[in-house]
Amino acid sequence: MPAASGPDDESKPFQHITVLLREVVAAVERAASLSTVEPQWVVDCTLGGGGHSEAILQALPQVHLLGLDRDPAALTAASARLAGFGERFVCEHAEFAELRQVCERRQLPPLLAVVADLGVSSHQFDRPERGFSLRLDGPLDMRMDPSRGPTALELLADVRLEDLADVLYEYGDIQRSIGTARILLEEVQAGATTTARLAERLAARLGRTRSIHPATQVFQALRVWVNGEYRQVEALLEQAPGLLAPGGALAVISFHSGEDRPVKQTMAELAKRGGEFWLPQRKPVLPSELEQQQNSRSRSAKLRVLHKKSHQDAEPDAPDDDLDDA
Ligand SMILES: C[S@@+](CC[C@H](N)C(=O)[O-])C[C@H]1O[C@@H](n2cnc3c(N)ncnc32)[C@H](O)[C@@H]1O
Repeated sequence: MPAASGPDDESKPFQHITVLLREVVAAVERAASLSTVEPQWVVDCTLGGGGHSEAILQALPQVHLLGLDRDPAALTAASARLAGFGERFVCEHAEFAELRQVCERRQLPPLLAVVADLGVSSHQFDRPERGFSLRLDGPLDMRMDPSRGPTALELLADVRLEDLADVLYEYGDIQRSIGTARILLEEVQAGATTTARLAERLAARLGRTRSIHPATQVFQALRVWVNGEYRQVEALLEQAPGLLAPGGALAVISFHSGEDRPVKQTMAELAKRGGEFWLPQRKPVLPSELEQQQNSRSRSAKLRVLHKKSHQDAEPDAPDDDLDDA
């Protein structure tokens, strides 16, 4: 299916350095070595600029790949990049919660792999009009899919102080959340309704207590709220394991603890319960020193992989003494 076109799909190239590229490809290769499913389909639920998808299609010539993204601009960019793969690549405008429905409608066989690289792309961050950036001034939008749902500014115009404090606490890990929520509402009501302006005002009012910009966690919380990100990750974790072929893999990259926690817990529970799934390792796969040096955004990345068993008891579970986070 052709990619949908979007409002910001014009000339500027899609800039995003793919994180944990070799490691994700290795997880799909392992699935291919364990699975006998034919034809082999991979769904990349976070197509973005197409970095993971391209590497998977290159490394596994027998694989067909469906890319999903809720951002029409990502579909446009990835379609252009991956056009050379012909019928092996298709993409669709959809979000995680629609994964099962899309696979059923397309009558895909059980999947070799489901891949998700959570969060926003650098492209989304770097376009001021998308409203994610602390530095580049733009409207307080923050929607990954600009075609639906309220913007950050619209949500802020209509939220109770206590509810906003919950958002800041739960999605941004902000401890003094009532005070921060009050400052945030005061500043928006006083006219700080663009991103860099609001970030500046928050910095002035909150003070710099850590090395990161004082508005970083506030912006993260607003972004997670606007995009319903935790609900989406829950839906992904609920739907993806049941779509896998025997031997198939679910590979998820997360960037902060609120994303990683449900991934870690769901995978551990599935591997414990009933013996249908197994974990190649309980600790997350982290970027190498070199990758962290070359791409600072990779520093907080954690990759977790879950496999569906290919034969009863064929694969050992990860050892029990290896339970903690890295
Ligand atoms: C980190 S980027 C992916 C980059 C990609 N792996 C690459 O190498 O180019 C995350 C992408 O996932 C999309 N996304 C995030 N949450 C989503 C969701 N719930 N449903 C669909 N797409 C989502 C974002 O719009 C963004 O384009």
